Amino acid sequence: MNITFAKLSLPSSGTIVVGVMEGRSLSPSAQEIDAKTGGALARAMGADRFRGKRGEFLSVLAPSGIDAGRVLLAGLGKAKEIDIAGLEGLGGAIVAQLNAAGETQASVMVDDIKGAKPSGAKMAAAVAFGARLRAYRFDKYRTKEKPEERPTMKKLAVLVDGPSKAKDKYAECEKIADGVFFTRDLVSEPANILYPETLAAEAETLRALGVEVEVLGVPEMKKLGMGALLGVGQGSVRESRLIVMRWNGAAKADETPVAFVGKGVTFDTGGISIKPSAGMEDMKWDMGGSGVVLGLMKALAGRKAKANVVGVVGAVENMPSGSAQRPGDVVTTMSGQTIEVINTDAEGRLVLADALWYTQDRFKPKFMINLATLTGAIIVSLGSERAGMFCNNDQLSDRLMKAGDEVGEKLWPMPIDEAYDADIASDIADMKNVGAGRGAGSIAGAKLLERFVNKLPWAHLDIAGVTWSKKDKNTVPKGATAFGVRLLDRLVATHYES
Ligand code: BES
Ligand code: MN
Ligand code: ZN
Repeated sequence: MNITFAKLSLPSSGTIVVGVMEGRSLSPSAQEIDAKTGGALARAMGADRFRGKRGEFLSVLAPSGIDAGRVLLAGLGKAKEIDIAGLEGLGGAIVAQLNAAGETQASVMVDDIKGAKPSGAKMAAAVAFGARLRAYRFDKYRTKEKPEERPTMKKLAVLVDGPSKAKDKYAECEKIADGVFFTRDLVSEPANILYPETLAAEAETLRALGVEVEVLGVPEMKKLGMGALLGVGQGSVRESRLIVMRWNGAAKADETPVAFVGKGVTFDTGGISIKPSAGMEDMKWDMGGSGVVLGLMKALAGRKAKANVVGVVGAVENMPSGSAQRPGDVVTTMSGQTIEVINTDAEGRLVLADALWYTQDRFKPKFMINLATLTGAIIVSLGSERAGMFCNNDQLSDRLMKAGDEVGEKLWPMPIDEAYDADIASDIADMKNVGAGRGAGSIAGAKLLERFVNKLPWAHLDIAGVTWSKKDKNTVPKGATAFGVRLLDRLVATHYES
C-alpha cells in the first residue's frame, strides 16, 4: 500500500474518510461533504448507533452530490482526548475497514480539530504511520492465494493543511516502520529457514545502513568461556552464534553507548526436558527478543539516530539429541559463575547470562536492556497486553514505562527483591536455572539474569506474552508484533541522543 500526502481538497474517487467527534459533531471536511450531499451524513448517522466515539465507524455508500463512491465516518472521540497513539490506532483501523470493504483507493481528510492537542500535520503523520504498520503482511510462503483473498488497498492519500510538514514527520516514522517490519519478518520465519547462522546473515545486511556487525562462532565463544550459551546450543546441528552490532551515531564518537541484548533461541523444543507437542510450533518465535534488537538497530540506523548503540544477540537452537545437555549438568559461564541446569527448557536465561556478561565486560555501557520470550509464567501474570519489566534502576524504569505508554507498547513493573534470590540456590553450583516450586517463575528467571549484569543499570523485558498476537489489533496485524522496537526507539530518541 502506497501512502502519500497532499493538500486538503475534496477527492473525486475512491473512499473519503472523515472524522466525527463524540456526540456526532462533524469535522470541517465532514461538514463540507454533508452540505454537498444534502445532509446524507447526518441522515446516515441518525439511522445508526454511531456516536463518533473513538473506534466507531460508519460507512455511507454512494451519496449523491459528490463523485466518491463511499464516505467512511471515523469516530475520533472527544476532541480534547485525541492523542497520537489513538490516531495511530485509527490509521490502522481505517486500513482494516477499507480492506474488508474491498476498497483499493482512499483519501483521509485530516482537519485541524478545535480543542485537540496535536496539530493537523502531526495527526496526519500519526494516521499514516498507523496505517502503514497495520498494512504489514507476511505472505512470502503463500503461492496459491487468490486475488480476492488478498488485501485490496493500494493507495492511501492523507489530505491535510501543510502536507509537507506531515510528510517530514512521517519520513522518520517510515524508518521506524522499516525496523518494525524487519523484526516481524524475522520472527515470522520458520526455524528451518531462520537459525543462528542465517539470523547472523540477516544482521549483516544492516551493514548497508552503516551498522558495524561482528559474528562470533563456536570456537570464539569457547575461548571466551561462554559455557552456558554453548551448552544450550550443543544439542543442535545448527551452530550457535553471538551477533554484535554497533551503531555509532553520537556527535561525540567516544560517547558511552547504550546496549540492547536479545534472546535468540531460533527454536525451543525444550531440549531433553522436552516440551509437549501441542503448540510447540510457536517456539519458532522464541527468538523474538533478538528480532527486536535487530529491528531496533535498523530503525536507529535508518533514521540516523544521534546515539551510540550496541546490540548483542545470543543465537542458539535448543534441541534434544545425543549431544544435548542433560538436566543436572553444571555449566561455567563467561563470568566464572556456575549454573546447575535443572531444566533444559529454562534455556533463555543461560543464553542471556553469557550475552549480558559479554556486553557489560566489553562495552561498559550506560545501561543494558535485554528482551526475551523468557517465561510462560509472565503470560499467566500479564496476558498479552503488557510485557513484564524487571529493573534495578528507578530512572531507567520510569523512562521505559513512559516510552511504552507513549507508543502503545506497555510495560508493567515486576519485583526483584533480594528475598527471591534463595529461589535459585543450588546444592552443587553457584545457582540453578529454575526457581523453587511452582511460584514466581518469571522472577526466578530475572533473578538469574541479574547476576550477570555486574550491577550496571539494567532492565529485563519478558516479552513472552506480547511477541506474537493471535488477533488483529490497532497498528498490529495478527502474528509477529515487533513489540519493543518502537518502545526502545522512543527511549533512545527522548533521552539518549546528542
Ligand atoms: N521460551 C520459553 C518461554 C515461553 C513459553 C515463551 C511460552 C513463549 C510462550 C522458555 O524457554 C521456557 O521454556 N520457559 C520455561 C521455564 C521453566 C522450565 C522454568 C517455562 O516458562 O515453562
Ligand atoms: Mn525453553
Ligand atoms: Zn525459550
